Amino acid sequence: MHRFRNKTQRLGGVLLALSAASIPAAELTPPAAFTTNCLACHTIDQAVVGPSLVEIAELYPERNRASFIKWCVEPGKKREHLPQMPAMVHVAEKDLHEIFNYIREVTKGVKRVRPSGADPYALSPGKTRRPRVERTFVPDSGPASIIVALPTARKHNVIWDTDSCRLRYISEGETDNWPYLRSNGNALAKVGEVCYVEHSPIFVAGKTQFKGCHLSDEGYPTFVYTVGGTTVTETISTAGGAIVRTIKASPRLPGFSLPRDQGDKLKIAAETAGDTLIIQHRIGSGT
Ligand code: HEC
Repeated sequence: MHRFRNKTQRLGGVLLALSAASIPAAELTPPAAFTTNCLACHTIDQAVVGPSLVEIAELYPERNRASFIKWCVEPGKKREHLPQMPAMVHVAEKDLHEIFNYIREVTKGVKRVRPSGADPYALSPGKTRRPRVERTFVPDSGPASIIVALPTARKHNVIWDTDSCRLRYISEGETDNWPYLRSNGNALAKVGEVCYVEHSPIFVAGKTQFKGCHLSDEGYPTFVYTVGGTTVTETISTAGGAIVRTIKASPRLPGFSLPRDQGDKLKIAAETAGDTLIIQHRIGSGT
């Protein structure tokens, strides 16, 4: 009996080892925060826009976890031939830890490969999916702005400035980060045609401070910030072809003034209910 048990235990061990070996690390599912925020520039074994995950894993073993997080939030300028990496201030620290774990796991036993001479920028799969959130440098907004590319028929993009904690403008058409990447960071991304400008902030008084950004499972962002001492959340999504901004604060919204219709291509409809303000932008009938 005793010997038999030992045998099955050994067999169990072999089976376990086999099934673990039959899942190549590269088939691990990446965390959503990686797919949305990093994949466009970092792939597993090839330098695309930024260094490969294999190179990153070599630079950042477990004991360098804290400096990895610090780099993501406040990237330096290291490699002369590459553009500057945009700061990932909008990614929650918890998600950065998850991304770190993923990078350590997925690169186990993987070697770097040299690019095949194909256009390295064309390899980025995260570039056209909608909804998506992209951190880059855009015209007419602060240096820490985020593009929220929405899945409307006209491919609307909300440009949200994390310095002043507000929507700056909405454009339509595919965004293009290439000018920024190719120019080594000296040019700005193209954001399509601007169709709505928000000339003044919604919250009229109080100092604002950006706290972070969470993504829903579908990839819609919720920005978190404070106005005065009040915490506000602002979710950007779509419904029935319209762009929907759902702004909430507890226990009540700080003083606000609604954006006015200025004959832009997008018509504004706003309503408040208690602690919630909903602003919709719809394509006007005359356009
Ligand atoms: C728009 C492109 C872009 C995106 C998006 C991006 N990176 Fe980078 N990343 C770069 C570039 C370019 C470099 C190289 C910068 C340099 O060497 O000056 C880099 C370098 C790095 C490094 C190496 C740091 C070092 O010490 O050499 C790490 C780690 C890193 N990125 C992590 C991330 C993570 C995690 C994300 C997502 C949360 C991310 N990056 C998103 C472009 C990007």
